[in-house]
Amino acid sequence: MHHFERKDGILHAENVPLTRIAEEVGTPVYVYSAATLRRHARVFREPFPEGTVTAFSVKALSNLAVLSLLRQEGFGADVVSGGELERALRAGMAPDQIVFSGVGKTVAELEAALHAGILQFNVESEAELRMLSDVAQRLGKTAPVALRINPDVDAETHPGISTGKKDDKFGIPWDRAFEVYDLARELPGLEASGLDLHIGSQITSLAPFERAAMRAKDLVVALRERGHDIRRLDLGGGLGVPYAEGDVPPLPSAYAEALVKITSDLDVQLILEPGRVIAGNAGMLMTSVILTKTQTTKSFVVVDAGMNDLMRPALYGARHHVHEVKEKAGERATFALVGPICESTDQFDPAVQLTAPEAGDLLLFGTAGAYGAVQASQYNSRPLVPEVLVDGDRFHVIRRRPSIDEMLGLEAVPPQFVGDRK
Ligand code: LLP
Repeated sequence: MHHFERKDGILHAENVPLTRIAEEVGTPVYVYSAATLRRHARVFREPFPEGTVTAFSVKALSNLAVLSLLRQEGFGADVVSGGELERALRAGMAPDQIVFSGVGKTVAELEAALHAGILQFNVESEAELRMLSDVAQRLGKTAPVALRINPDVDAETHPGISTGKKDDKFGIPWDRAFEVYDLARELPGLEASGLDLHIGSQITSLAPFERAAMRAKDLVVALRERGHDIRRLDLGGGLGVPYAEGDVPPLPSAYAEALVKITSDLDVQLILEPGRVIAGNAGMLMTSVILTKTQTTKSFVVVDAGMNDLMRPALYGARHHVHEVKEKAGERATFALVGPICESTDQFDPAVQLTAPEAGDLLLFGTAGAYGAVQASQYNSRPLVPEVLVDGDRFHVIRRRPSIDEMLGLEAVPPQFVGDRK
């Protein structure tokens, strides 16, 4: 469910016509709907028991305004870098609602998170465990640890975003769990009081989640039998969203019910790390048609958004539904929809149906709120795409488009390269 609807032939985000945003901010631009974010946040949180930590996966959509909105909805944060940690803290998230994931946390990042006093470090290797112990000891702190165990469950998703199979780079192998928990107990500065799993992203059936939760439950029981006081169970994120008509991923309520049923008699604090399911359908990328061209047999529509602005189609072959902002009369025809970047993979759709596209027409890529703006780059020296948050009748530019001067301002030319060669 989202709040992008057509009124009088023009697509709106809540009560704001998208044409107005295009006029005032220009294109390409990401547009998010606050009402949709709030709704997703509530629908996700509501079925879980009191005390559950819903740690929004900041990597999915990391703008400070969005994080602040989610904080108001009771969300904490799942962060994977010092930068994301700082974002969560600046958005006012309570440290005891923040978990730190990732296979390669640096000493500086571990220090920052220890100083902040976060809820849990999701530790992914023996080497990281030793590093964290050293850093915690040096700072005179005790680090709350969950070991991320790789459950060897097939998430049945795109291989590029599967993370829970045994040869993926993530987590500690299942059969080493006891040994590494025992080590965590021996090392100073650590309190291994949690278990963490995450099996992948854009998962569209409940079965992999259930298999992983069942394995987690068995492991919590077995670890307790060995004397480990496991009090928190982090089941990660991964719930999929509909990208195309006909996609029917499980409802958040069914997902919650399944996980709660499996874990309810464990007496653990649950932690979830949802990203896409909160942000995906709350955002769209708006772009303008630059021109159309016909090669020998194929017709192209070239838009002003490129793979640098929305990388998912080029990276994973993902398809984002294309909407025309203004309804048009006439026949639909098939076009390849491409960006201006000098790469053949800069293609959003090989065959999209559009009505008489012409320069200046506005198009929207749907379901672009998650892993959209956050994966944007300046490739081809295109300034970073801006972001707008609509809230009812108002909209706010929550990240402005940098000028070309600002973009180039980080670079420096050493004096020997100024002027002619001597
Ligand atoms: N927790 C951990 C440890 C993760 O690695 C991820 C996502 C999440 C939570 C959130 O998963 P979600 O609920 O959003 O599925 N760039 C890719 C997706 C990469 C996902 C990485 N990890 C894409 O555009 O599809």
